[in-house]
Amino acid sequence: MKTIIEPFRIKMVEPIKMTTREQREEILHRAGYNLFLINAEEIIIDLLTDSGTAAMSHNQWAGIMRGDESYAGARSYHRFFEKVQEITNFKHIIPTHQGRAAERILFELIAGPGKYVPSNTHFDTTRANIEYQAAEAVDLVIPEGKDPQLIHPFKGNIDLTRLENFIRHKGAKNIPACMLTITNNSGGGQPVSMENIRKTKEILARYGIPLFLDACRFAENSYFIKKREPGYENKSCKEIAQEMFSYADGCTMSAKKDALVNIGGFLAMNDDDLAMKARNVLIVTEGFPTYGGLAGRDLEAIAQGLEEVLQEDYLHYRIRTAEYMGEHLDLIGVPYLKPPGGHAIYLDAKAFAPHIPVEQFPGQAIACQLYTEGGIRSCEIGGIMFGRTDPQSGDYFPPAMELVRLAFPRRVYTQSHFDYVLEIIEAVYQKRKALRGFRFTYQAPVLRHFTAKFEVVR
Ligand SMILES: Cc1ncc(COP(=O)(O)O)c(C=O)c1O
Repeated sequence: MKTIIEPFRIKMVEPIKMTTREQREEILHRAGYNLFLINAEEIIIDLLTDSGTAAMSHNQWAGIMRGDESYAGARSYHRFFEKVQEITNFKHIIPTHQGRAAERILFELIAGPGKYVPSNTHFDTTRANIEYQAAEAVDLVIPEGKDPQLIHPFKGNIDLTRLENFIRHKGAKNIPACMLTITNNSGGGQPVSMENIRKTKEILARYGIPLFLDACRFAENSYFIKKREPGYENKSCKEIAQEMFSYADGCTMSAKKDALVNIGGFLAMNDDDLAMKARNVLIVTEGFPTYGGLAGRDLEAIAQGLEEVLQEDYLHYRIRTAEYMGEHLDLIGVPYLKPPGGHAIYLDAKAFAPHIPVEQFPGQAIACQLYTEGGIRSCEIGGIMFGRTDPQSGDYFPPAMELVRLAFPRRVYTQSHFDYVLEIIEAVYQKRKALRGFRFTYQAPVLRHFTAKFEVVR
């Protein structure tokens, strides 16, 4: 069949409030041109993130009712533990309230001044948690991963030669771990191949460096491997996921993505000593090791979500959504990061609005106009999120790509919502020459994109 239907029926709905262009112009101005500062009620289609925005299934809601809220050793913890272990086979699984809590605990224990943590590309919270410990987060994605127009099946791969040279140059003792973000969110939701994961592990093993996966989108990555990597076409996504985790020594996970829940995460590893230290930090900052900042019902919903996310009908529909968007953007000639990733479409802001210099954040100009034009909330993933200004010289260092991410909440929007989004993108593209850049009027010292305010450059 040509039409790939949403493999679910809807039995509860949430109305969308419509707004006019005039209202949206006023709302955007009030929010200092920062889409994070707009109320959700004032958004028509919210593609800000795929994190924590999934619609849960009837079985997850049933699990919520079954949740065991005992402080220690709850039944729900055991269900969660068994499900995570079935997929990852890690010895120690430590629940946390979300992904960054797992990152904070891990890097508090292993990072510090003079340490380096290489990755394909660190996500912003991972980078922030490493830098918060005065260590250095280093991105070593393959060169193909930095060219938005280039087609490559695994643009999330780490550059193995650069990784080995980096280890030799900095010294293995200064590298407490290497991370692979699967899929590579900051690099366009691009997958990492099994071969790349395996070879990364081989290199690291020679130097005694552990490999951690940032596993938020492990199921989407598994599906890409099944579809694109020879030898995996007849394996189930679960088997593929199990093989990916078998090469790692641990992982951080934001369950808000591929566990199909609205909150939760975990830190997992095989190292007994590190796990003991992690549990001690967890008790001080998150909670007892069998709930770690979550309610028993949250652990139930994660266990059920992990079961559902590996169903191939679901993954087929999920990945097809981004492909569908890509095919239509091709038809209307809108530049986007190719090939489409798993959880989002990323507009290529430099090619979309080449008249706006990178210092004036072309991605933000497009994101704001998508809101004014059609009430769509997207997210700039470019200079605002990752640009750096040298405090001494004042020189500005932009990231390799200026992107606008339209992330797709899981099981939330239907095809007509996506057709509407395409219409709005087309309208903005037609008027692209009128787009204007932005400058900061306020910025916080870390993770500035969440709270910054802007004004239009006239
Ligand atoms: C790749 C990646 N790592 C880590 C995180 C952080 O997870 P959380 O938002 O649950 O703290 C995210 C969230 O978007 C992510 O995409």
